[in-house]
Amino acid sequence: MKVAKVLITAEEIDAKLAEMGAAITRDYEGKDLLMIGILKGAFVVLADLARHVRLPVETDFMAVSSYHGGTHSSGVVRILKDLDQEIEGRNVLIVEDIIDTGHTLKYLLRTLAVRKPKTLSLASLLIKDDVERPHFDIQYEGFHIPNEFVVGYGLDYNEQYRNLPYIGVMDTNSTSSPTDVQEGFKLAD
Ligand code: IMP
Ligand code: MG
Repeated sequence: MKVAKVLITAEEIDAKLAEMGAAITRDYEGKDLLMIGILKGAFVVLADLARHVRLPVETDFMAVSSYHGGTHSSGVVRILKDLDQEIEGRNVLIVEDIIDTGHTLKYLLRTLAVRKPKTLSLASLLIKDDVERPHFDIQYEGFHIPNEFVVGYGLDYNEQYRNLPYIGVMDTNSTSSPTDVQEGFKLAD
């Protein structure tokens, strides 16, 4: 597979994260805030979004797995790494890279709600449209995108492309080769 086109540029992502960060700053002024990044995909979003939040925040990570190397969600979610801390009584903000089938989120919301946070909210850079999934209240939404497989900005295909500075669409008609990853970087110039 190779990157077929740039869907969202690095500049557009930064402008959106600045807006989301400003909204979070307004909403959590004077409150405690724990931002939880869902690994691996959200490591880039959390790092950049947190720097647009002008408040003292704490960060933590949880690693879950729902994809197994391919481009389709299996529906089976496993915790690979749990939080380092208790969240009871805390204002928790889950930070996701993308919401696709919602399997990951449904599982996470259920798992974290049991731990009795004071509030539990959700931020996601990307939301795939035209996907059937349970309804979630998403307090901080980034971009709505078509139901295509995307990579970059934390999102991978077989663990590659996570460090592309933009969101790109994969060309599902071609087979993968190491040079395709290089091509993805050329698109960014
Ligand atoms: P969901 O459980 O189907 O909502 O998917 C959630 C996770 O699947 C995301 O956090 C991503 O890690 C991964 N994922 C979903 N769609 C894509 C995509 O288009 N590209 C890369 N990873 C994806
Ligand atoms: Mg993810």
